[in-house]
Amino acid sequence: MTIVAIVASPRIGANSDTLTKAIAKSAEDNGKTLKFYRLNTLKNVKGCQACGCCKKKGVCAVSDDQTEILEAIKSSEGLILSTPLYFGAANAQFRLLQDRFYSFMGADFKPFISPGKKLAVVVTCGGGKPAAEALAASLEEGMKGRFGFSPIGSIVMDMGNTPSVAANNADALAEAERIGKKF
Ligand SMILES: Cc1cc2nc3c(=O)[nH]c(=O)nc-3n(C[C@H](O)[C@H](O)[C@H](O)COP(=O)(O)O)c2cc1C
Repeated sequence: MTIVAIVASPRIGANSDTLTKAIAKSAEDNGKTLKFYRLNTLKNVKGCQACGCCKKKGVCAVSDDQTEILEAIKSSEGLILSTPLYFGAANAQFRLLQDRFYSFMGADFKPFISPGKKLAVVVTCGGGKPAAEALAASLEEGMKGRFGFSPIGSIVMDMGNTPSVAANNADALAEAERIGKKF
């Protein structure tokens, strides 16, 4: 069974990337297959067009580099969502994908993806920890309430603006490993 990992930070090897990889590696060590996506490397990316096609046909009408990710999530057993906090919210790369999750809901706004997929969340920030915590909680609640995901743990870390903080934080890496084992 497959776990999908999403990194929205443009900084490869920085904090949310490091924590997401640590969760994913632990899940892999636990026998799961991994699909790992860095949103910032995608070239052809569109936001939701609010066309409503998904409500009639069950799939998103937009075809771009995020289409593969949406399909991977649909057939996955679990999902790792990570984003840095930018201006008090998820970053733009993350939000473009998140809006496309609208296609996971049918015309009655009930999810048509299977419930019970496991969810881990990583939010990193540079001083605004309360906002980062609120974002992580809202991601967990939204994915649970709208699509039936089962949250298994989240990591919220204040990194200043230093990319290597997570890589040098043994407690955070141990927490990531612990969460990954739950997949
Ligand atoms: C455009 C931009 C906006 C940011 N806005 C915030 C913010 O509102 N609050 C905050 O605490 N940190 C903010 N930060 C800092 C990042 O959240 C922080 O550096 C985080 O660790 C980045 O994650 P990464 O290391 O995975 O790239 C911002 C950084 C950038 C580049």
